[in-house]
Amino acid sequence: MKIAIIGGTGSIGKGFALRWGQKHQVIVGSREQEKARAKAAEYNGILKDYGFKADISGDVNEKAASEADVVLLAIRYGQIASTIEQIKPGLEGKIVISVVVPMEKDRCIIVPEGVPLEIPTNSREDYKADYFCYVTPPAGSAAQEIAPLLPERTELVSAFHNVPAAKLANLDIELNYDVGVCGNSMHSKNIVFGLVRDIPGMRPMDIGPIETSSMVESITPLLVNVAIRNHMKDVGIKFVD
Ligand SMILES: NC(=O)c1ccc[n+]([C@@H]2O[C@H](COP(=O)([O-])OP(=O)(O)OC[C@H]3O[C@@H](n4cnc5c(N)ncnc54)[C@H](OP(=O)(O)O)[C@@H]3O)[C@@H](O)[C@H]2O)c1
Repeated sequence: MKIAIIGGTGSIGKGFALRWGQKHQVIVGSREQEKARAKAAEYNGILKDYGFKADISGDVNEKAASEADVVLLAIRYGQIASTIEQIKPGLEGKIVISVVVPMEKDRCIIVPEGVPLEIPTNSREDYKADYFCYVTPPAGSAAQEIAPLLPERTELVSAFHNVPAAKLANLDIELNYDVGVCGNSMHSKNIVFGLVRDIPGMRPMDIGPIETSSMVESITPLLVNVAIRNHMKDVGIKFVD
């Protein structure tokens, strides 16, 4: 399968390139062609050191998207609209995977007792929180913001939000995570289930339609808070019954 990773030069993009590059044809996307090519060469070098014969290439996001069967958006929430606008012609008929989590630290405001709920903007600095929280987008989730931006025949799947980048990119580590997968098309969800299973130690879990994405996206700030406060690293999720 040909997989384009938009923003594949970044933290989580590297992990996907190294994991899927062992089995699939990966195209690292970037705003800059040279950067994309340099990162692709770096990832090929890493995989070669682990004994894999990888063929990862790099290109500008638009070209990467247009050449792939599956396009993974590995960019931050605030960059979604402008990036999709650029790559949109290449997304027609494809499966798009969103791993996007809208989360922030500074926007979680703690209101101490006695302070009126309407805090004047100029005093918001005094009430900044020391934890991360999910910043709910107007449509309900990042995935629901992305869906209407895509071409009509494109199928969106929302997944991998709770996978920590550092562990994904560390090929010495055995992973043991569940991956929540949300989407409206069983056909595209099945393809993403397969991509999850292609990464040893990962198990796909069907969460429901795209409207359930906020539940999975919002787990990520919880995991980061747990890690920070309990001296843990790269916390993920595992469902048990
Ligand atoms: N990091 C994690 O552990 C993790 C885990 C789960 C989900 N996620 C989600 O994955 C997404 C990417 O996270 P990340 O930590 O990998 O991000 P990142 O490393 O900060 O950025 C990813 C890439 O975005 C591109 N970029 C930067 N500014 C841009 C702009 N203005 N317009 C378009 N592209 C721009 C850059 O690529 P170029 O400069 O090459 O264009 C960069 O390499 C986020 O939505 C995050 O919520 C992250």
